[in-house]
Amino acid sequence: MTRNLIGKTCFSLFVWFLPLSLFCQNGINPYHYSIQKKVLCSKGAVVSAHALASKTGVAILKQGGNAIDAAIATQLALAVVYPGAGNIGGGGFLVAHLSAGTNIALDFREKAPALATRDMYLDKAGNPLLSLSQNGPLASGVPGTVAGLFASLKYARLPFSKLIQPAIDLAEKGFTLTEAEADAFNKNREAFLKYNSIPPAFVKDSGWKAGDTLVQKDLAKTLKLIRDQGQKGFYEGETARLITEEMQRGKGIISQDDLKNYKARERTPALFDYKKYTILTMPLPSSGGVVLQQMMKMAEDQPLKSFGFQSVKAVHLMTEIERLAYADRAKYLGDADYFKVPVKTLVSYPYLNQRMSLYNPEKAGNSKDIQGGTISPVSEETTHIDVYDKDGNAVSVTTTLNGSFGCKVVVAGAGFLLNNEMDDFSVKPGVPNMYGAVGAEANAIAPGKRMLSSMTPTIVLNKNRPYLVVGTPGGTTITTSVFQTLMNILEFDMNADDAVNKPKFHHQWLPDQLFVEAAFPAAVSEQLKKMGYTLKQREQIGRTEVIRILPGGQIEAVGDSRGEDTAEGY
Ligand code: DON
Repeated sequence: MTRNLIGKTCFSLFVWFLPLSLFCQNGINPYHYSIQKKVLCSKGAVVSAHALASKTGVAILKQGGNAIDAAIATQLALAVVYPGAGNIGGGGFLVAHLSAGTNIALDFREKAPALATRDMYLDKAGNPLLSLSQNGPLASGVPGTVAGLFASLKYARLPFSKLIQPAIDLAEKGFTLTEAEADAFNKNREAFLKYNSIPPAFVKDSGWKAGDTLVQKDLAKTLKLIRDQGQKGFYEGETARLITEEMQRGKGIISQDDLKNYKARERTPALFDYKKYTILTMPLPSSGGVVLQQMMKMAEDQPLKSFGFQSVKAVHLMTEIERLAYADRAKYLGDADYFKVPVKTLVSYPYLNQRMSLYNPEKAGNSKDIQGGTISPVSEETTHIDVYDKDGNAVSVTTTLNGSFGCKVVVAGAGFLLNNEMDDFSVKPGVPNMYGAVGAEANAIAPGKRMLSSMTPTIVLNKNRPYLVVGTPGGTTITTSVFQTLMNILEFDMNADDAVNKPKFHHQWLPDQLFVEAAFPAAVSEQLKKMGYTLKQREQIGRTEVIRILPGGQIEAVGDSRGEDTAEGY
């Protein structure tokens, strides 16, 4: 049984006169759909940033696909209907818990091309050239998403052709845009024209409006190549040629060899205990696993629950914990295949206890005094998908182009956007990237290296069965949003809806500011200022998706109200 708790119909169809069967794929009408924030169901659920993608995922579950099948189909659908972040030209991470007990962590993060150099975004005087790490073909890392889809296929049940077909249909026949989507295309029009030799499908001279249909013929062609030729349909042959031609036109450096050599990697999942729960999340090259583990372990013995949700004491404690963890992120974290990262020490209790000795319950810390810890030598675009199926398999995937619409370059003739993930490297020690994150040697650019990420796809297990599936976009706010969402449920006893939608706050060590959402309680803000914090309002922190499996087996799935995210289930 499915019960819609909140349903918001957003726009209607203007092509009713066309035979509906032509468009209704799997019972989904891409010209008339609604956004649903919350669902309570009993068999399976999918939450993602777009209604059509969530519906696609649930259709695959209903056809006998498992959670991995649904995650693949949802990702591919997002690459079409949510081009600002859903992608085949970006990368990401997937964690999964299979009902047989296996835990998976799949890394399909982009990597630096072979011609990348440490100082490639510095001018002769050593000044950073952030426009180059953020826009145009040079900003793009070698895409990982398609390799990730194929690496996850071994855990899937249905043939790939079935999983990709809904995306092909959505690209070929089009779908109706919401107002927010139309606005996003209009806002980025100049950038699309500036960075593309051939105007992409996202440019419409008369401007987009809600209810318009977006058709992406070139993207459909690329997706068909991937359907028919597998991974090679992207990394070799025509698509690879079109990518390298785009590089030549825009002075990018991704080569055919870079593409051919790209490999998704199965990593040992980050797995740690928090009270009676086991947390399964992403290890390096995402900082998420280390930072989340540090924060949760520093919080574990603190009386957060008795302080109360968003009490001054609780926010102060959690902010200082965030500051300490992010200072370590800047100093120590990077791709562990290239830089020796002391992960074991960073997440050990003696080290974290020593870090917590810097916490003063009475006053705000100071990021000048609080640096990354000392370790002895021994040692605004991304998108998230949650899936849970009837057999108890859970999948949490975060994928990204980095900035909204990535580097703004659509590969001409191939119809997909390239990422601007190179900006996630530290272009120069201490120089903030587009999320204000600073880094050092650990995250310096090197050929073939993966740039440090904050993406934190997470599954909480209770007695080795999924209890929560959680994740979010939001750059550096990702890990703090996941941290707070988990604390909201595990410590403050909230349901998934409140855990996602209550206002969030964020501290990332540098800048030394406490970011709060507009709805953050004003009285608490005032008291925090008196304790020495500099507060800054931020439009939104995270767009978190949560699936919670209730004790009787019912599934509560929630999409963040900060966006058009949709929860579907059956
Ligand atoms: O990997 C990372 O941490 C970033 N590239 C994520 C970017 C992001 O979340 C943007 N979304 N709003």
